[in-house]
Amino acid sequence: MMALLEVSDLVVSYDAFPVLQGISFEVGEGEVCVLLGLNGAGKTTTVSTVAGLLRPRSGRVQFDGDDLGRRSPSARVAAGISLCPEGRRVFPRLTVRQNLRLGAWTRRREPKLVRRQFDLVLDYFPRLAEREGQLAGTLSGGEQQTLAVGRAMMSRPRLLLIDEASLGLSPTVARTVWEVTARIAADGTTVLMVEQSAGALAFADRALIMEKGTLVYSGVGDELRDVNLREAYLGAG
Ligand SMILES: Nc1ncnc2c1ncn2[C@@H]1O[C@H](COP(=O)(O)OP(=O)(O)O)[C@@H](O)[C@H]1O
Ligand SMILES: [Mg+2]
Repeated sequence: MMALLEVSDLVVSYDAFPVLQGISFEVGEGEVCVLLGLNGAGKTTTVSTVAGLLRPRSGRVQFDGDDLGRRSPSARVAAGISLCPEGRRVFPRLTVRQNLRLGAWTRRREPKLVRRQFDLVLDYFPRLAEREGQLAGTLSGGEQQTLAVGRAMMSRPRLLLIDEASLGLSPTVARTVWEVTARIAADGTTVLMVEQSAGALAFADRALIMEKGTLVYSGVGDELRDVNLREAYLGAG
């Protein structure tokens, strides 16, 4: 299978000390891949670099066979990479509809496509459909998270990066978000999701585990349902 995303020997540092110490991994077209690891492992740094928000010191990010080099974040969105960032950053004083439309900025000359994506997102998240005209700041935490995922979907990405969608959500709401993520993937969008919760494994084809800026495990999610493995890598039952 052709890798849609290929990360090779990626080194990223904030100042002198490298946070990512030369990581390599691939995400295949159509896959749901979950990137797990404890706080501070380097997960956000990884997806931020793929999205072009951070410049690597060395190494390479290839998308659909192209080296992304120093391409800007918006050029990457146009190429088909969309990031739903950590901390569900919606615009609180804008409505649900306005928040979603902002996600379609790179598609602003394609009104038909934007309308189709808009309907698709509201179909994924019916509660947002009921609240189209409501200010985003008045939504519940779970609804804001789905709005952030929906906004990232508005550019019609080929690769959706989701950074800790389940953070601060109840297990039930987290499961709903993961279920929709699986549906998004089934509809043809490749997904790389960052999580701290092993609960996400049930919704992923493959898992990567990160520890202190290195990848310590890569394998099929099924293996990780093994409790011993899970304890060894994630320190949790
Ligand atoms: N803006 C920053 N400046 C300096 N260090 C940072 C910055 N952001 C993250 N770090 C450090 O980089 C490491 C990895 O962080 P991060 O990628 O956010 O991890 P994770 O998402 O897995 O919790 C941590 O040690 C963190 O303290
Ligand atoms: Mg993070």
